[in-house]
Amino acid sequence: MRLLVTGGAGYIGSVVTTRLLDAGHEVVVLDDLSTGHRDAVPGAATLQEGDVCDPDVLSRVVSADLDDVVHLAARSLVGESVRHPERYWSTNVCGTRALLDAVRHAGITRFVFSSSAATYGEPEQVPIEETAPTRPSSPYGASKLAVDLMLGDEARAHGLSAVSLRYFNVAGALGDLGERHDPETHLIPNVLRVAAGQGPAVTVFGTDYPTPDGTAVRDYLHVDDLATAHLLALGATGACGRVGPGHHRVYNLGNGTGFSVRHVVSAAREVTGHPVPVIEGPRRAGDPAVLVASSRRIHEDLGWTPTRTRLVEMVADAWRVVQNR
Ligand code: UFG
Repeated sequence: MRLLVTGGAGYIGSVVTTRLLDAGHEVVVLDDLSTGHRDAVPGAATLQEGDVCDPDVLSRVVSADLDDVVHLAARSLVGESVRHPERYWSTNVCGTRALLDAVRHAGITRFVFSSSAATYGEPEQVPIEETAPTRPSSPYGASKLAVDLMLGDEARAHGLSAVSLRYFNVAGALGDLGERHDPETHLIPNVLRVAAGQGPAVTVFGTDYPTPDGTAVRDYLHVDDLATAHLLALGATGACGRVGPGHHRVYNLGNGTGFSVRHVVSAAREVTGHPVPVIEGPRRAGDPAVLVASSRRIHEDLGWTPTRTRLVEMVADAWRVVQNR
């Protein structure tokens, strides 16, 4: 198949692109390189540099010879979205709207979207099923939920075959493709930066959550398992797939196990042998206390099962990339 991967120069996008190429697909990457990296795009992919919100870029890149679109390009920081919601509504919602128009005009009928656990907000029950109420606690989560709703309408009205993958927290690396943001706000890279001697201590955002050790709990999923889910989702779209034309299906993607911020720090100490000092700080706005996935639906529908579920293994993969850099 010939595929467009938006955001293919980012952490997750570059791993998904690599796995698609390995599976024999042809990949065009659309990325404005605002947070992604040119050198993360595999040589066998074609990089088109441009903004997903720009109709001129879209009319150039989104063409009828594409079989499917995998849409990852987005702003994705919970904290930033609270301070600058306009950026999230613009890039994530208006950008996807423009992309969907281009997809429809080009006659492309298959679409896989990277949604988020942040669509749920503070859950009533964990693990979180796809049928749980969606009450996002940040503009980031709200923007992803808006796109999920948009895709349902687009499918029903225009025959799109669409899958939303709701990622929980993604970790680990594939080869040299690891997390690399500037500024970095994510927990595991921040902890490893301290272990690499590039900072004195990691700040724990909130120690008064209603969790066993008082710190926020997240479900960390290996980026390679996440990429496998994209391949399965692509296979599910289209006339012969589980999610046929006119249908939109949402899948959670997580390990089903929760790890607290303190668990992550302990895993990093174990992997790196560094003491990783911590400073206890206040909560970060927009952060729910606990996000743990039930991925039963994608397991039952598409046979997906995470295979690299140990936190220390994910941290060790990320640490290897930090050391290679
Ligand atoms: N945290 C710290 N110190 C840090 C960084 C983070 O204590 O230096 C805490 C956060 O407050 C949060 C947890 O560690 O409680 C995880 O934070 P991350 O920033 O690593 O990840 P988020 O949970 O905020 O968000 C990530 C993705 C989102 C996705 C979400 C789904 O960035 O896109 O996971 O669970 F929606």
